[in-house]
Amino acid sequence: MIKASDFGKDFSWGVATAAPQIEGASQLYGKGASIWDTFSARSGKIKKGHKLDIACDFYHQYREDIALVKLLGFEVFRFSMAWTRILPTGRGEVNPEGIRFYHNVIDECLKQGIVPYITLYHWDLPQALEDEGGWTSFSINAAFNSFVSICAKEYGDKVKNWLVLNEPFGFTSLGYMLGIHAPGKTGLSNFFPAVLHTAIAQAEGGKILRAEVSQANIGTTYSCSEIIPYTQSDNDILAANRVDCLINRLFVEPAQGLGFPTANWDLLEKFQIEYGTWRLNDRMKFDFDFTGLQNYFPLTIKYNAFIPVIQAWEIKAKSRKKPHTTMGWEINADSFYRIIKQFAAYPNIKNLMITENGAAYHDKLADGKVIDAERIEYFELYLTAMLKAKNEGINITGYMAWTLMDNFEWAEGFNARFGLVHTDFKTLARTIKYSGYWWQEFLRN
Ligand code: BGC
Repeated sequence: MIKASDFGKDFSWGVATAAPQIEGASQLYGKGASIWDTFSARSGKIKKGHKLDIACDFYHQYREDIALVKLLGFEVFRFSMAWTRILPTGRGEVNPEGIRFYHNVIDECLKQGIVPYITLYHWDLPQALEDEGGWTSFSINAAFNSFVSICAKEYGDKVKNWLVLNEPFGFTSLGYMLGIHAPGKTGLSNFFPAVLHTAIAQAEGGKILRAEVSQANIGTTYSCSEIIPYTQSDNDILAANRVDCLINRLFVEPAQGLGFPTANWDLLEKFQIEYGTWRLNDRMKFDFDFTGLQNYFPLTIKYNAFIPVIQAWEIKAKSRKKPHTTMGWEINADSFYRIIKQFAAYPNIKNLMITENGAAYHDKLADGKVIDAERIEYFELYLTAMLKAKNEGINITGYMAWTLMDNFEWAEGFNARFGLVHTDFKTLARTIKYSGYWWQEFLRN
């Protein structure tokens, strides 16, 4: 049976969360509206019309929730700062109650012996900045930089571990290309400028942290998925390569000074020429201390001439009769191992952390218990795959499970449950699931 000590005593184990998904108090204590507050209230695109107002009420229950992190045996708690709690309109006047709240959360972590990892941007852009164009607008970079600088100066004495962005491809594609996440924009004319400004923000955020925080350990996170061609036909292989450029390479390569991955695809070449991105290669470069990988599924890709731009189509796990979670995401721990190796192959990546990995199931609370055997099996498979990569010499230094408790799962609302702790969204009661107890046991050994 796999156990934590197999990974060595310096390996960091944590749970990850994000402000908009857990905090609630979304319109209280001086907080301004974020794009997710607006999108959940108005777009009609969130399942069952769920909103962020209360979420898990972490704002009021952070002490008890950090105690749960401790009780489960984790030493790291990853959480994000809501930009609009600190700067209600994105720039300018600071909200003292917001500043105080994150001091309280950090102090509580330190008091309970938990190491805080702070994500600076987990998708909740200030609505006031979105009104100026959000990530598509050139002005976003100065605003983001001053937010980073305020956080670094305010909390840098106490917090040494920082993550600049959460999944840049996730929020630029879902929010500015496909329109299914906030702010609901679509098309390449939104996506490309958003990608460019995000790649700049990623590096500049890192540079500011380096300058402001002594002995900082600076990382950022990427969603990643092994891309598997459906057949070995040239068309399927080329389609898979295009998807790989977007999903896996689009942001990690500019950070290394390599620019955008234009070589295999004329669309990205056109983007580079139209926006003159090569002139910004230095600006998009930053030598991160660690690279955060977030993996949930591989993608099997088939060529399809009818799909605009990318001419690629996903063949879902269900139709291939492969095991999958309630999100429809394929369970495939070997692909986790292979994508770790793909990222580790970049010579400039020194150190990998798995900053998110986990699974949603239809958990049922019965007789005060949640018996989520499938999730336990999921973690056993994925941790075994990670250990294999580590034992082959890949420098993986930590792992964070997604997520502490069931929360607001973006477009799924409260309907997709990823937590190690069950949340009753009516009473806000927390109940540790069997997978939570499994982690407790795993970390004890
Ligand atoms: C995000 C989380 C999200 C999780 C599960 C990641 O893409 O960072 O916020 O809840 O996936 O969908």
